[in-house]
Amino acid sequence: MKKTRTFKTLLVTGGAGFIGSNFILYLLRKYQDYQIINLDLLTYAGNLANLTEVEANPNYKFVKGDIADKKLIYNIVKDVDIIVNFAAESHVDRSILDSAAFIHTNIMGTHTLLEAARINGLKRFHHISTDEVFGHLGPYDPPFNEKTPYAPRSPYSASKAAADHLVNAYFNTYGLPTTISNCSNNYGPYQFPEKLHALFITNLLEGKKVPLYGDGRQIRDWLYVTDHCEAIDLIIHQGKPGETYCIGGACEKTNLAITKKILELLGQGEEMIEFVTDRPGHDRRYAIDFTKIKTELGWVPKTPFEEGMKQTVEWYRNNAQWWQNIKSGEYLEYYQKQYGIK
Ligand code: NAD
Ligand code: TYD
Repeated sequence: MKKTRTFKTLLVTGGAGFIGSNFILYLLRKYQDYQIINLDLLTYAGNLANLTEVEANPNYKFVKGDIADKKLIYNIVKDVDIIVNFAAESHVDRSILDSAAFIHTNIMGTHTLLEAARINGLKRFHHISTDEVFGHLGPYDPPFNEKTPYAPRSPYSASKAAADHLVNAYFNTYGLPTTISNCSNNYGPYQFPEKLHALFITNLLEGKKVPLYGDGRQIRDWLYVTDHCEAIDLIIHQGKPGETYCIGGACEKTNLAITKKILELLGQGEEMIEFVTDRPGHDRRYAIDFTKIKTELGWVPKTPFEEGMKQTVEWYRNNAQWWQNIKSGEYLEYYQKQYGIK
């Protein structure tokens, strides 16, 4: 029998971002007895509008803050059972332009959380990572798995790799009960419109063209965000301390194929594609072998590609105000007033 852990208070960091907010909504719908603290710095990528559904829920509390702020973190962590660390600078293109914030949040921030977890003897530290730490694959290479050596190629993936090493070091050195999940590309509701799906769908809804990098033949493995949330839920409750779990969608697609699917679902033609200069050091292909989480925890992705794409396009069509506020910068003005953010 697998041991299922129970917790009272979960600290979810980066819970105002894309995957973190989907995870909080998922947890609060599923569990009635968990207290969730969402700690988020509300960078450009954090958006409390993602969490309107739960803002009045007595089991939910929002704290605005930086995961690298030692005083704040030590103060919060003494009252929690588990940390699920989503907080990160997450966009490769931004890391190419300026990587300082990536080092601060992804490395220094993760270290601050680990120290606080160690000092307070937390029951679990779950770290959300990416398949990008493994580098990239050629067309015939076998997919990444938990034993694939780390070979990150962008400042983003290098900072995520450093964080993963720190997490493993805290398990090996101090016995902190850590777990890591390395997931492939997610898509779905509440994704910031700088990433492929959200940018392309919203551009097309605005009548704008979509900027496809290089030849559009790079391959990503795509997972619908709720399937990722289910995998994390299983890992934090049944995963084994010290272990890494690779999570994937069994859904390798070229960027061109994704673009064509979005165009089809929106009834638009290929003249809306604008081939633009390629990303420097653009990773060619990612793919994930998720046999371990499938056999050990019984997880498989549930949302078929066609269904996930349809739901995603529909969501952005039906929630135009959400992304229009972001694209117009209105939500940042709201935070400036509400939280005094400069
Ligand atoms: P996101 O950029 O949408 O959200 C990141 C959140 O972290 C934002 O709310 C932001 O305000 C917050 N944040 C940033 N710096 C912070 C700090 N110093 N302190 C506190 N909060 C801070 O990212 P996402 O796409 O939701 O990704 C979440 C996690 O999942 C990241 O760790 C990312 O590396 C990982 N991941 C993402 C994908 C993907 O396809 N999006 C795939 C695999 C793994
Ligand atoms: P992205 O969503 O930024 O995720 P990641 O870089 O973490 O994989 O990009 C997904 C793929 O889409 C990647 O190969 C780059 C490509 N892409 C474009 O072609 N045009 C764009 O405007 C963006 C944002 C991405």
